[in-house]
Amino acid sequence: MHISVIGTGYVGLVTGACFAEFGLSVTCMDTDAQRIGKLEKGEVPFFEPGLTELVHKGIKENHLTFTSNLPKAVEDALVIFIAVGTPPRADGSADLSYVEEVGRGIAQHMKSYKVIATKSTVPVGTGERIRQVIKAHQTTPCRFDMVSNPEFLREGSAIEDFLRPNRVVIGADSDQAVAIMKDLYRPLYLIETPFVITDIASAEMIKYASNAFLATKISFINEIANLCEKVGADVQVVAKGMGLDRRIGPKFLHAGPGFGGSCFPKDLAALVQIGQESGERMEIAAKAAEVNDRQRRRMVEKIHAALGGLKGKTIGLLGLSFKPNTNDLRESPALAIAEGLIEKGAAIRAYDPEGLEEATKLLPGLQACKDAYDAAQGTDALVLMTEWNQFRNLDFVHIKQLARQPIFVDLRNVYEPDRIATLGFHYISVGRPPRGPNPAAS
Ligand code: UGA
Repeated sequence: MHISVIGTGYVGLVTGACFAEFGLSVTCMDTDAQRIGKLEKGEVPFFEPGLTELVHKGIKENHLTFTSNLPKAVEDALVIFIAVGTPPRADGSADLSYVEEVGRGIAQHMKSYKVIATKSTVPVGTGERIRQVIKAHQTTPCRFDMVSNPEFLREGSAIEDFLRPNRVVIGADSDQAVAIMKDLYRPLYLIETPFVITDIASAEMIKYASNAFLATKISFINEIANLCEKVGADVQVVAKGMGLDRRIGPKFLHAGPGFGGSCFPKDLAALVQIGQESGERMEIAAKAAEVNDRQRRRMVEKIHAALGGLKGKTIGLLGLSFKPNTNDLRESPALAIAEGLIEKGAAIRAYDPEGLEEATKLLPGLQACKDAYDAAQGTDALVLMTEWNQFRNLDFVHIKQLARQPIFVDLRNVYEPDRIATLGFHYISVGRPPRGPNPAAS
């Protein structure tokens, strides 16, 4: 079967490469001809573990082709996935202009039956809206079906998430479209992946509700962490104790500097906006976003308090991406915190394995360092921002020699507090009591 994927961002490119891995014939289309030129040579425009290899394999086995020619992408395919961006507007609502533009383009070039599936996260009602756009712009009237097939992959583990998902959601109002979609995902039947077959609106809602719930879980544990600090409790143990209750589950209960990325902040804002338009206030989603903004500011205050002021201080930052294994800096708490520290007069030395170059463009005040130890040179405090694996086994004896004073702020609770304190550090984390004497206080 031949399918096309419109949009070669994270979701589009991973979808295309993984369906090619399933043995389908896939055309990935993007209006950015330069991007397509690079992809044809196997150059992936962002960092995602395993994706370059999968793209090379797809090209080599003739399962994966790239084009900037929409008519070609439309004519060849039975199923057309829309995976273009839905960036937030100033009021938080999702900007659907790219999605609608693709809808018009598909309408003008379709000459036979097609299934049009949205992979982008789109507000409830968008499937219907695209259906109307296509109907209004068709040049050759022919039948087509709309499907909502939301994607749940995470950056950094996108391929694994696509190839071994917890579930596949298919929203449609046509048996033929459901059968075709199920056929695409046939390899997943073998690993007994559950399928949720529903209407388009419910499928669209599942995506927003899932992301909002996960984001709320994080904001909830971050509030608990802040309270733990006040009452002398340890949030790691609290989260473990909670997570063992199977009704709660252990995942997304890691306290830290707050969530970032291209999805949770944007999707919470969009859900609040959808609620407003529908006359239903999404108060929990709104609060989850508010608590998240506050958490970033709290991290700046935490470092400020530990150092007794930030003016003239040098701080080393480890990790700038919003999470490990990605170079994505969108809504990264690390960048927001770095900005807050700079505003309060601190000099920043920073290192990130994949996002450093881009980060220094976004925040020219950052002093780019070549590794974690370079970032620690002459610092009043070293702060672990993003839990890349290479920061999980730091040589603290070496860091102590390099730093101006031994203060380690672990915003991802990676280390055992007593162990770092024994190595002569004042150790601060999130939701756990600090350990070791504070050299800045003496
Ligand atoms: C998220 C969802 O997890 C995916 O299921 C979804 O498909 C995707 O959004 C999307 O809508 O496209 P992603 O943003 O890539 O995926 O990353 P996550 O692993 O969910 O992490 C998001 C943020 O939450 C990161 O900043 C991470 O550090 C933070 N986080 C995560 C915590 O602070 N604590 C946790 O316990 C878990």
